[in-house]
Amino acid sequence: MPVETLSWRSGKLRIIDQTLLPARLKYIDLQTPEQVWEAIKKLRVRGAPAIGVAAAFGLYIGVKDSKARTGKELLGEVRRVAKYLGSSRPTAVNLFWALERLTRLAERRAEESPVRIKKALLDEARAMIDEDNAVCRAIGDAGQALLRSGQTVLTHCNAGGLATASYGTALAVVYRAVERGKKIAVFADETRPLLQGARLTTWELMQSNVPVTLICDNMAATVLSKGWVDAVIVGADRMASNGDFANKIGTYGLAILAKEHGVPFYAALPLSTIDMSLKSGAEIPIEERHPDEVAAPGGLRIAPRGCRVFNPAFDVTPAKYLAGIITEKGVIRRPFKANLKKLFDKA
Ligand code: MRU
Repeated sequence: MPVETLSWRSGKLRIIDQTLLPARLKYIDLQTPEQVWEAIKKLRVRGAPAIGVAAAFGLYIGVKDSKARTGKELLGEVRRVAKYLGSSRPTAVNLFWALERLTRLAERRAEESPVRIKKALLDEARAMIDEDNAVCRAIGDAGQALLRSGQTVLTHCNAGGLATASYGTALAVVYRAVERGKKIAVFADETRPLLQGARLTTWELMQSNVPVTLICDNMAATVLSKGWVDAVIVGADRMASNGDFANKIGTYGLAILAKEHGVPFYAALPLSTIDMSLKSGAEIPIEERHPDEVAAPGGLRIAPRGCRVFNPAFDVTPAKYLAGIITEKGVIRRPFKANLKKLFDKA
């Protein structure tokens, strides 16, 4: 990835404002927890892993000027800011995973001085960027082995460098294959209503000179039926312990189409996206967003004012559609429930 999705610069969280892409590549600096909350809610920063890292910095930003005199007092503030940031978006578990990771750190060090705890929180958030890079590369390495030169991947939404600290999950598979000299082409679903595929996936693949063809979501059946797709690879926002997973709305339909046409369908995700506390996808909270995203995209009204709208941001794909789960620990195959349990027991 030629751009840094998020970075820590002189006491501020710098992000690309993804709502402006592809027209403008603009970086904005976030300096208050309210700004971080707003950036997550409005999808200026988006994608499960990127939201998690942004929230970790948001938590540090929220307590860095605290006047707490003891570690315990600071811990109370950490918990308050974590709860606030956690209210921005409900589906991607990485958000809660990151906030919990920092909160647990503050709990473990509650006997230390506030100065030391604050420093530890910043170090942890920074470490998450490096970790995310390493994890995404490992996902790419595991997944690229599934692709042969000359093959074409269909993807949905944006699970690329823009959705992580850099590099991506589903697109990491493509990037790592290309880095090994394989010729890989991509079909990108536009991804209504917020067009992450059209605006972001095409943009970042073109930056990296990976051949990409944009299609409307309702064209996926056509390209699959023509035999133009060798694998469908998507990201995930939260996977339950049985392998069911939530990802951008439209993923479920794509999984059914892939099965119908005998094309392998994979989810690529870090272990931090797996919520082992959930038995199945039915327990994943699904975010519903403002009706205008559907009825008046980009401010242009396309449906009658007052028209009833249903706008879930994600859907749940049952594990039975998955050929495999591409993680930093390798490709997990069936039976998903047992194999995920084994993996987490080991970890
Ligand atoms: O609403 P968004 O743009 O945050 O949704 C993003 C997705 O659904 C991605 O596919 C998912 O977060 C995985 S990103 C590596």
